[in-house]
Amino acid sequence: MPTITIDGKALEFELGQSILDVAHNNEMEIPHYCYHPSLSVVASCRICLAEVWAPNPRNDNKLEPMPKLLPTCQTPAGDGQIVYTSSPKATANQKAVMEMLLNHHPIDCPTCDQAGECDLQDYAYEYGRGERRCDTEKITQSKKDIGDNIMLYGDRCIMCTRCVRFADEITGTSELYIEGRGAKECIDVFPGIGINNELSGNVIDICPVGALLDKDFMFQQRVWFLKTVPSIDPLTSSGDNIVIEHNNNQVYRVKPRTNLEVNQYWITDEVRYGWKFVHDKTRVVDMDEDAELIAADKLQQASTIALLVSPMLSCEDAWLLGNLVRSIDKEAIVGVGPVPIDGDDKTFKSGFTIRSEKAPNARGVRRALGDVFEYDEWKKQMTSADTVVVTGNYPEAWDTPEISENQTLVLIDTLANGLTERADAFLSAATWAEKAGTFENYDNKLQLFDRAIHPVGDSQAEGQFAMNLQALVNDMEATVFNAATVRRRMADAGIAGMLDVELPQNTNRIDTDMPLSEV
Ligand code: SF4
Ligand code: FES
Repeated sequence: MPTITIDGKALEFELGQSILDVAHNNEMEIPHYCYHPSLSVVASCRICLAEVWAPNPRNDNKLEPMPKLLPTCQTPAGDGQIVYTSSPKATANQKAVMEMLLNHHPIDCPTCDQAGECDLQDYAYEYGRGERRCDTEKITQSKKDIGDNIMLYGDRCIMCTRCVRFADEITGTSELYIEGRGAKECIDVFPGIGINNELSGNVIDICPVGALLDKDFMFQQRVWFLKTVPSIDPLTSSGDNIVIEHNNNQVYRVKPRTNLEVNQYWITDEVRYGWKFVHDKTRVVDMDEDAELIAADKLQQASTIALLVSPMLSCEDAWLLGNLVRSIDKEAIVGVGPVPIDGDDKTFKSGFTIRSEKAPNARGVRRALGDVFEYDEWKKQMTSADTVVVTGNYPEAWDTPEISENQTLVLIDTLANGLTERADAFLSAATWAEKAGTFENYDNKLQLFDRAIHPVGDSQAEGQFAMNLQALVNDMEATVFNAATVRRRMADAGIAGMLDVELPQNTNRIDTDMPLSEV
């Protein structure tokens, strides 16, 4: 295998990789602004330049320095090359680039939302000069509303063009362009047409500075207060990998987590902003004190039970609920709740696809429960049951089944709906952000998600309710729901795939080594 030496470290690489790719694959940092692994290479920001020595075939393969510094994002790695990213020449370039960028930057970090996760800020600390040597007047740009979710702070833009390339190459919608020339150039949208495609929020993530900001998150939290938890898209069957960022038991934002096999680097705006039901005012989070006792009593008295398991629930929740009702009624009528479909799948220029199936775990629920009825058939069959257990946990109003007056209803749900008042026992369900579990996506890929915040109010995971009710029915002590333990039990019970799932650790958070000043 060919070998390149970067900053004294010999690294093997595959032909075709750039020097920057080789460094990053080996966890070595080379500063970069315009480079993004999923976008075309423009090599315009010049901060990644390094000193490169290469064997010269015309001179007995003797090592010779390249006449100029080379952009490592654009230069293919070559066998025998020696690269210096912190030699005096390379360092002088990094300082010069930073000086040029900061010359016209407003340096308004105290009021900028990007502070704390800003490449310009981090690189200024790491590669900058630390002092301003120039007193020319700064060129100012305007602040502009450029889309339903995005504000452009033109002053802060460093013209890396990542956002423009994203709209050209990933979505193919090309809403963004460069207006003007030279020092006056700036990013803009065409008159009357904002950047409102279904993936628009991703430009906020890839903007390395605070030029493109999320209106929804703006001024809500300083990012260093946020805790980050790896999770999975709870709204569609795509299984997109995400992180939930929260503080003081409140979710503040959802961002993509890189998974090249599933969602690459992106998520849809639907997933980015769709978590609001977690803190929705119409969510019922108070429960009657004896709701569980009543529910257990109703189940014990039942002769035929029908159970509807929502495709919004995790595999673990579904399995525990199935066990509960089947332990009381072996012939229980078990079905999967309605799986919302919205139009057709939509695929963008880059191949990223938005799934029309708006439920994260229909396949996982079927896997966990084995032989189950689909919703329409379940609705016909459940009329013969005297007791019906219904789960929901949908992010909005859903197609609830009709429960006859003669039937007993145990409802486990989140948002208020037509069944809430009708229920003989209501149990308040925790949303996906408040519990851990497994979702199976459209591609039958099982993926774990972690709990981000504590359950709001009296709510609990459906799996915890199932365990509590099982304990009450069996007159035993209840145990605490633990998703990993449940998965092991599921595997012991013969359910395939439950031990092969792993929680990805990549949270996309690059920690700076900037020391924290105590005040
Ligand atoms: S707005 Fe951000 S992503 Fe777009 S060119 Fe400016 S700095 Fe780059
Ligand atoms: S990252 Fe290489 S020139 Fe911008």
